[in-house]
Amino acid sequence: MAQLKDKVALITGAASGIGRGIAIRFAQEGAKVGVLDLKLEPCQKVVDEINQAGGEAVALEADIAKEAPVAEAVQKLNDHFGTISILVNNAAIMPTGAVHETSPEDFERCMGVNLRGTYLVSRAVIPQMLEATRGSIIHMASGTGILGLPGLAIYSASKGALIALTRAMSTDYARKGIRVNSVSPGTIDTPMLEKFLGEQSQPELYRQMFDDMHPIGRIGRIDEVANVFVFLASDQASFVTGANYTVDGGLTVKGEQPQDD
Ligand SMILES: NC(=O)c1ccc[n+]([C@@H]2O[C@H](COP(=O)([O-])OP(=O)(O)OC[C@H]3O[C@@H](n4cnc5c(N)ncnc54)[C@H](O)[C@@H]3O)[C@@H](O)[C@H]2O)c1
Repeated sequence: MAQLKDKVALITGAASGIGRGIAIRFAQEGAKVGVLDLKLEPCQKVVDEINQAGGEAVALEADIAKEAPVAEAVQKLNDHFGTISILVNNAAIMPTGAVHETSPEDFERCMGVNLRGTYLVSRAVIPQMLEATRGSIIHMASGTGILGLPGLAIYSASKGALIALTRAMSTDYARKGIRVNSVSPGTIDTPMLEKFLGEQSQPELYRQMFDDMHPIGRIGRIDEVANVFVFLASDQASFVTGANYTVDGGLTVKGEQPQDD
């Protein structure tokens, strides 16, 4: 059954990784999808893939940290497919380092994209959801917004803020037909992870460490995260708002794990 039939969805950071996976999966579920990312060409590749599989999508170029391009992208999606009823705020960057190892510019850019960008895209889309009295907004948070993990100070702060933003927004819009939730994945096999591993002196050791860190014994797949986004975007989740769904193989509830060996 097509769970998102005829709904119009905007997905940021959709040219790569989890965002791309969500865009393709939403289209399979019948949604008309706006594939937004920094550059048009990689968005168009995802759109072509969706169209070839019989879905409907449009490529949108915008830096979500900038207000005017965000407004233009939202207008372009409206012109193509009409009122947006699903917004996935997925785009993010992940500067690494403890606080003293990062620069104020790293801080500004990370908050500018991860937090301000999410705010700007939400702000641009919410008026039409209010008018239609329906909408589902899903912010991409992270297990790092809940747990303390070394070397990810600024990124973790941005993700923790998104969880707080989710709760606050859900209360503002609960009686107006708009549900607001967040998803906090554990480590997922994506280009962002590959980039992080590539920056380490022993990438294979780190990958093994990530596998071991998750009680399930491995890192997650993109489709395992996309499944939860389909649920939250769909009418199946009609009584779900203000929630932060962990999709992390048990990472954030972990006590001491028994070891087999
Ligand atoms: N991969 C993981 O292990 C993991 C774990 C937890 C949370 N997440 C979150 O999932 C989301 C997707 O991560 P991913 O691993 O697929 O990363 P990714 O790097 O593969 O994809 C992120 C996409 O966002 C885009 N983007 C970055 N800045 C942008 C901007 N200013 N405007 C528009 N687009 C922009 C990038 O171009 C890229 O296509 C992120 O929010 C990330 O924080 C990832």
